[in-house]
Amino acid sequence: MAYIDTEKLFDVPAREKLLDNAFGSTRFTKTSERLREGRLPADGLALVARCDDRLVATLRLWHIDAGGVPALMLGPLAVDSAFRSAGLGGQMMRHAITRAAEIGHRGIVLVGDYAYYQRFGFEHVHAARLELPGPVERARFLGLELQGGGLAGAAGMVRATGAISMEEAREAVQRRKAA
Ligand SMILES: CC(C)(COP(=O)(O)OP(=O)(O)OC[C@H]1O[C@@H](n2cnc3c(N)ncnc32)[C@H](O)[C@@H]1OP(=O)(O)O)[C@@H](O)C(=O)NCCC(=O)NCCS
Repeated sequence: MAYIDTEKLFDVPAREKLLDNAFGSTRFTKTSERLREGRLPADGLALVARCDDRLVATLRLWHIDAGGVPALMLGPLAVDSAFRSAGLGGQMMRHAITRAAEIGHRGIVLVGDYAYYQRFGFEHVHAARLELPGPVERARFLGLELQGGGLAGAAGMVRATGAISMEEAREAVQRRKAA
C-alpha cells in the first residue's frame, strides 16, 4: 500500500528515473521547466509516494508571481506505470491542494490535460489572463483558487520566485550545453 511523504534528498535518483520514464528526455524543454530550473520547490510541497521503500509517485509545487499575485505552479506529477489507475495520482493531488491551502497559498496554476485536472477543480478561467515565458497550449493552461478570488487579479507574465539553488542552476546549465 503506497503512502504519501515529503520528498527527501535521498529520493532524487529514483525521482529523476521516474520522471524520465514518465515524460522522456524532452521533459526539460517544457515551458513549465523555465519556472522550475535553478529553483527549490515550495516548502512542504515536494511530495512523493512510497511503497515498500520504493518511490512510486512524485509531485512538486513552486513559488511563482502570477501576474502580480503570489501563487504556486504545480508539476510535474508522475506515478510509476505499475501503480497507475489506482487513485494514487488523485491522492497526491488532493494532499498537495489541501496542504497548500493550509499553508495559506492563494492559488495554483499548471499546464496539463484538462480532462485529468478538472476533477480537482482546475479551470481555464483562472489562467486566462496569464502568460508563460514560452509557448503554451491555452487549452492546457489551468488554475485553481485556494481562497475565494485568490487568482482574481492574476494578469500578465508568470515568473519564478522560489529560492534559488546553485546546484539546480548548475545542472540546468549543463543540460542546456548537452542539448
Ligand atoms: C497522469 C497520472 C499522474 C495519473 O496517475 P494515476 O495514479 O493513474 O491517477 P488516478 O488513479 O488518480 O486516476 C486515473 C484516472 O485518470 C485518467 N487519466 C490519466 N491521465 C489522464 C489524462 N492525461 N487525461 C485524462 N484522464 C487521465 C486515467 O485514465 C484513469 O481513469 P480511470 O480511473 O477511469 O481508469 C499518471 O497517469 C502518469 O504519471 N502519467 C504520466 C505522466 C503524466 O502524464 N503526468 C501528468 C502531466 S499532465
